[in-house]
Amino acid sequence: MPKPRPLIAGNWKMNGLSADGWALADEIVRQAGEGTGPELLVCPPFTLIGLIAEALANSPVGLGGQDCHGDDAGAHTGDISAPMLADLGCRYVIVGHSERRTDHGDSSARVRAKAAAAQRAGLAAIVCVGETWAEREAGRTAEIVGGQVAESIPPGSTAANLVVAYEPVWAIGSGRTATVEQIAEVHALIRRQLGGQVGPGSEAVRILYGGSVKPANAREILAIANVDGALVGGASLKSADFLAIAAASPPG
Ligand code: PGA
Repeated sequence: MPKPRPLIAGNWKMNGLSADGWALADEIVRQAGEGTGPELLVCPPFTLIGLIAEALANSPVGLGGQDCHGDDAGAHTGDISAPMLADLGCRYVIVGHSERRTDHGDSSARVRAKAAAAQRAGLAAIVCVGETWAEREAGRTAEIVGGQVAESIPPGSTAANLVVAYEPVWAIGSGRTATVEQIAEVHALIRRQLGGQVGPGSEAVRILYGGSVKPANAREILAIANVDGALVGGASLKSADFLAIAAASPPG
Protein backbone atom coordinates (compact mmCIF):
# COMPACT_ATOMS: atom_id res chain seq x y z
CA MET A 1 0.00 0.00 0.00
CA PRO A 2 1.66 3.30 -1.04
CA LYS A 3 1.74 6.10 1.53
CA PRO A 4 -1.10 8.58 1.08
CA ARG A 5 -0.21 12.04 -0.23
CA PRO A 6 1.03 14.02 2.78
CA LEU A 7 -1.03 16.92 4.11
CA ILE A 8 0.71 19.96 5.61
CA ALA A 9 -1.91 21.97 7.47
CA GLY A 10 -1.33 25.40 9.00
CA ASN A 11 -3.41 26.16 12.09
CA TRP A 12 -3.28 29.93 12.46
CA LYS A 13 -5.24 29.78 15.74
CA MET A 14 -6.38 33.22 17.00
CA ASN A 15 -3.85 35.15 14.93
CA GLY A 16 -4.16 37.53 12.02
CA LEU A 17 -6.02 40.68 11.03
CA SER A 18 -7.02 41.34 7.43
CA ALA A 19 -3.76 42.83 6.18
CA ASP A 20 -1.36 40.30 7.67
CA GLY A 21 -3.67 37.35 6.94
CA TRP A 22 -3.89 38.38 3.30
CA ALA A 23 -0.12 38.89 3.09
CA LEU A 24 0.60 35.47 4.62
CA ALA A 25 -1.80 33.65 2.31
CA ASP A 26 -0.49 35.57 -0.69
CA GLU A 27 3.13 34.66 0.13
CA ILE A 28 2.19 31.00 0.54
CA VAL A 29 0.41 30.96 -2.82
CA ARG A 30 3.33 32.65 -4.57
CA GLN A 31 5.88 30.24 -3.14
CA ALA A 32 3.79 27.06 -3.21
CA GLY A 33 4.38 26.36 -6.89
CA GLU A 34 2.26 23.99 -8.91
CA GLY A 35 0.96 21.89 -6.07
CA THR A 36 2.88 18.78 -7.03
CA GLY A 37 4.33 18.13 -3.56
CA PRO A 38 2.32 17.56 -0.39
CA GLU A 39 -1.20 18.92 -0.14
CA LEU A 40 -1.13 22.35 1.52
CA LEU A 41 -3.91 23.67 3.74
CA VAL A 42 -4.36 26.84 5.78
CA CYS A 43 -6.89 27.17 8.59
CA PRO A 44 -7.33 30.87 9.41
CA PRO A 45 -9.61 32.25 12.14
CA PHE A 46 -13.29 32.42 11.10
CA THR A 47 -13.14 36.18 10.57
CA LEU A 48 -10.56 35.81 7.79
CA ILE A 49 -11.96 32.81 5.94
CA GLY A 50 -13.83 34.83 3.28
CA LEU A 51 -10.81 37.01 2.63
CA ILE A 52 -8.34 34.12 2.54
CA ALA A 53 -10.63 32.24 0.16
CA GLU A 54 -10.03 35.10 -2.28
CA ALA A 55 -6.28 35.05 -1.71
CA LEU A 56 -6.19 31.29 -2.39
CA ALA A 57 -8.50 31.35 -5.43
CA ASN A 58 -7.13 29.29 -8.34
CA SER A 59 -4.23 28.05 -6.22
CA PRO A 60 -3.58 24.49 -5.06
CA VAL A 61 -3.61 25.64 -1.41
CA GLY A 62 -6.73 24.49 0.43
CA LEU A 63 -8.79 26.27 3.07
CA GLY A 64 -10.11 24.95 6.37
CA GLY A 65 -11.83 26.07 9.56
CA GLN A 66 -10.54 25.58 13.10
CA ASP A 67 -13.80 24.29 14.57
CA CYS A 68 -17.51 23.88 13.79
CA HIS A 69 -20.75 23.16 15.62
CA GLY A 70 -22.29 19.69 15.67
CA ASP A 71 -25.62 21.02 14.34
CA ASP A 72 -26.14 22.26 10.80
CA ALA A 73 -27.98 25.45 11.89
CA GLY A 74 -29.92 26.82 14.84
CA ALA A 75 -29.91 28.88 18.01
CA HIS A 76 -26.21 28.72 18.92
CA THR A 77 -24.99 32.26 19.41
CA GLY A 78 -21.38 32.75 18.40
CA ASP A 79 -20.99 29.35 16.78
CA ILE A 80 -20.16 28.50 13.17
CA SER A 81 -21.65 25.53 11.31
CA ALA A 82 -19.94 23.18 8.90
CA PRO A 83 -22.25 24.22 5.99
CA MET A 84 -21.13 27.83 6.60
CA LEU A 85 -17.50 26.77 6.21
CA ALA A 86 -18.28 24.74 3.09
CA ASP A 87 -20.18 27.75 1.70
CA LEU A 88 -16.98 29.84 1.90
CA GLY A 89 -14.93 27.24 0.08
CA CYS A 90 -13.46 25.26 2.97
CA ARG A 91 -12.57 21.64 2.33
CA TYR A 92 -11.48 20.77 5.87
CA VAL A 93 -12.21 21.63 9.47
CA ILE A 94 -10.13 20.91 12.56
CA VAL A 95 -12.20 19.43 15.41
CA GLY A 96 -11.17 18.37 18.90
CA HIS A 97 -8.02 20.47 19.07
CA SER A 98 -6.71 20.26 22.62
CA GLU A 99 -7.20 24.01 23.02
CA ARG A 100 -10.92 23.51 22.24
CA ARG A 101 -11.09 20.45 24.49
CA THR A 102 -9.53 22.49 27.33
CA ASP A 103 -10.88 26.02 26.78
CA HIS A 104 -14.38 25.00 25.68
CA GLY A 105 -14.86 21.63 27.34
CA ASP A 106 -15.20 19.76 24.06
CA SER A 107 -15.67 16.10 25.03
CA SER A 108 -14.92 13.31 22.59
CA ALA A 109 -18.68 12.80 22.12
CA ARG A 110 -19.04 16.44 21.12
CA VAL A 111 -16.01 16.18 18.84
CA ARG A 112 -17.64 13.18 17.14
CA ALA A 113 -20.81 15.24 16.55
CA LYS A 114 -18.71 18.05 15.08
CA ALA A 115 -16.80 15.64 12.82
CA ALA A 116 -20.07 14.08 11.66
CA ALA A 117 -21.48 17.56 10.90
CA ALA A 118 -18.35 18.35 8.89
CA GLN A 119 -18.69 15.14 6.90
CA ARG A 120 -22.41 15.81 6.24
CA ALA A 121 -21.40 19.19 4.81
CA GLY A 122 -18.89 17.57 2.46
CA LEU A 123 -15.84 18.57 4.48
CA ALA A 124 -13.06 16.35 5.75
CA ALA A 125 -12.74 16.44 9.54
CA ILE A 126 -9.25 16.72 11.01
CA VAL A 127 -9.85 15.01 14.36
CA CYS A 128 -7.20 15.86 16.97
CA VAL A 129 -6.17 13.54 19.77
CA GLY A 130 -3.35 13.60 22.28
CA GLU A 131 -2.35 13.00 25.88
CA THR A 132 -1.20 15.48 28.52
CA TRP A 133 2.23 15.18 30.10
CA ALA A 134 0.68 13.91 33.34
CA GLU A 135 -1.15 11.18 31.40
CA ARG A 136 2.07 10.18 29.60
CA GLU A 137 3.99 10.14 32.90
CA ALA A 138 1.31 7.87 34.35
CA GLY A 139 1.75 5.42 31.44
CA ARG A 140 -1.74 6.19 30.11
CA THR A 141 -0.88 7.44 26.60
CA ALA A 142 -2.28 4.42 24.74
CA GLU A 143 -5.45 4.41 26.85
CA ILE A 144 -6.07 8.15 26.42
CA VAL A 145 -5.28 8.36 22.71
CA GLY A 146 -7.03 5.06 21.98
CA GLY A 147 -10.10 6.26 23.87
CA GLN A 148 -10.17 9.57 22.02
CA VAL A 149 -9.87 7.82 18.66
CA ALA A 150 -12.66 5.39 19.60
CA GLU A 151 -15.02 8.13 20.81
CA SER A 152 -14.20 11.08 18.52
CA ILE A 153 -14.38 9.47 15.07
CA PRO A 154 -17.85 9.07 13.58
CA PRO A 155 -18.90 5.73 12.10
CA GLY A 156 -18.79 5.70 8.32
CA SER A 157 -15.60 7.78 8.15
CA THR A 158 -13.36 7.18 5.14
CA ALA A 159 -9.96 8.31 3.90
CA ALA A 160 -11.80 11.00 1.92
CA ASN A 161 -13.54 12.64 4.88
CA LEU A 162 -11.28 11.90 7.84
CA VAL A 163 -7.79 12.96 8.86
CA VAL A 164 -6.47 12.18 12.35
CA ALA A 165 -3.94 14.49 14.02
CA TYR A 166 -1.86 13.21 16.93
CA GLU A 167 -0.87 16.21 18.99
CA PRO A 168 0.63 15.47 22.40
CA VAL A 169 -0.72 18.34 24.51
CA TRP A 170 2.70 18.89 26.10
CA ALA A 171 4.32 19.38 22.69
CA ILE A 172 1.90 22.08 21.46
CA GLY A 173 3.42 25.54 21.40
CA SER A 174 6.05 24.41 23.89
CA GLY A 175 9.05 23.95 21.60
CA ARG A 176 9.19 20.43 23.03
CA THR A 177 8.66 17.93 20.22
CA ALA A 178 7.89 14.29 20.86
CA THR A 179 10.75 11.90 20.03
CA VAL A 180 10.76 9.79 16.88
CA GLU A 181 10.07 6.70 19.01
CA GLN A 182 7.13 8.31 20.81
CA ILE A 183 5.60 9.51 17.55
CA ALA A 184 6.14 6.16 15.80
CA GLU A 185 4.56 4.25 18.69
CA VAL A 186 1.41 6.37 18.90
CA HIS A 187 0.94 6.62 15.13
CA ALA A 188 1.19 2.81 14.85
CA LEU A 189 -1.42 2.48 17.59
CA ILE A 190 -3.77 4.90 15.80
CA ARG A 191 -3.22 3.08 12.48
CA ARG A 192 -4.10 -0.27 14.09
CA GLN A 193 -7.19 1.16 15.69
CA LEU A 194 -8.36 2.77 12.45
CA GLY A 195 -8.14 -0.68 10.88
CA GLY A 196 -10.94 -1.81 13.20
CA GLN A 197 -12.95 1.41 13.20
CA VAL A 198 -12.78 2.51 9.57
CA GLY A 199 -12.26 -0.91 8.01
CA PRO A 200 -11.05 -1.48 4.43
CA GLY A 201 -9.18 1.54 3.08
CA SER A 202 -8.11 2.70 6.55
CA GLU A 203 -4.43 2.64 5.45
CA ALA A 204 -5.22 5.66 3.29
CA VAL A 205 -6.51 7.75 6.22
CA ARG A 206 -3.84 10.36 6.85
CA ILE A 207 -2.44 10.60 10.36
CA LEU A 208 -0.73 13.95 10.99
CA TYR A 209 1.70 14.77 13.77
CA GLY A 210 1.40 18.14 15.47
CA GLY A 211 3.29 19.84 18.26
CA SER A 212 6.22 22.22 17.72
CA VAL A 213 6.86 21.08 14.14
CA LYS A 214 9.38 23.44 12.55
CA PRO A 215 11.76 23.41 9.59
CA ALA A 216 14.57 22.01 11.75
CA ASN A 217 12.69 18.86 12.81
CA ALA A 218 10.21 18.39 9.95
CA ARG A 219 12.29 16.05 7.80
CA GLU A 220 12.89 13.61 10.63
CA ILE A 221 9.24 13.65 11.74
CA LEU A 222 7.71 13.37 8.27
CA ALA A 223 9.85 10.32 7.48
CA ILE A 224 8.38 8.27 10.37
CA ALA A 225 6.14 5.34 9.40
CA ASN A 226 2.43 6.24 9.59
CA VAL A 227 3.16 9.98 9.69
CA ASP A 228 1.31 11.38 6.68
CA GLY A 229 1.86 15.07 7.23
CA ALA A 230 1.84 17.71 9.93
CA LEU A 231 -0.51 20.07 11.73
CA VAL A 232 1.57 23.19 12.24
CA GLY A 233 0.72 26.03 14.61
CA GLY A 234 3.36 28.66 15.34
CA ALA A 235 5.57 27.88 12.35
CA SER A 236 2.61 28.22 9.96
CA LEU A 237 2.50 31.97 10.62
CA LYS A 238 5.71 32.48 8.63
CA SER A 239 5.36 31.51 4.98
CA ALA A 240 9.03 30.54 4.67
CA ASP A 241 8.84 28.19 7.65
CA PHE A 242 5.53 26.68 6.55
CA LEU A 243 6.84 26.01 3.05
CA ALA A 244 10.15 24.68 4.37
CA ILE A 245 8.16 22.15 6.41
CA ALA A 246 6.20 21.20 3.28
CA ALA A 247 9.45 20.84 1.32
CA ALA A 248 10.71 18.40 3.97
CA SER A 249 7.92 15.91 3.11
CA PRO A 250 9.20 12.71 1.56
CA PRO A 251 8.48 12.64 -2.20
CA GLY A 252 5.21 10.83 -2.92
P1 PGA B 1 2.45 24.35 17.43
O1 PGA B 1 0.86 24.06 17.41
O2 PGA B 1 3.00 23.94 16.09
O3 PGA B 1 2.56 25.81 17.68
O4 PGA B 1 3.03 23.52 18.54
C1 PGA B 1 0.35 22.91 16.79
C2 PGA B 1 -1.14 22.87 16.96
O5 PGA B 1 -1.64 23.21 18.04
O6 PGA B 1 -1.88 22.50 16.03
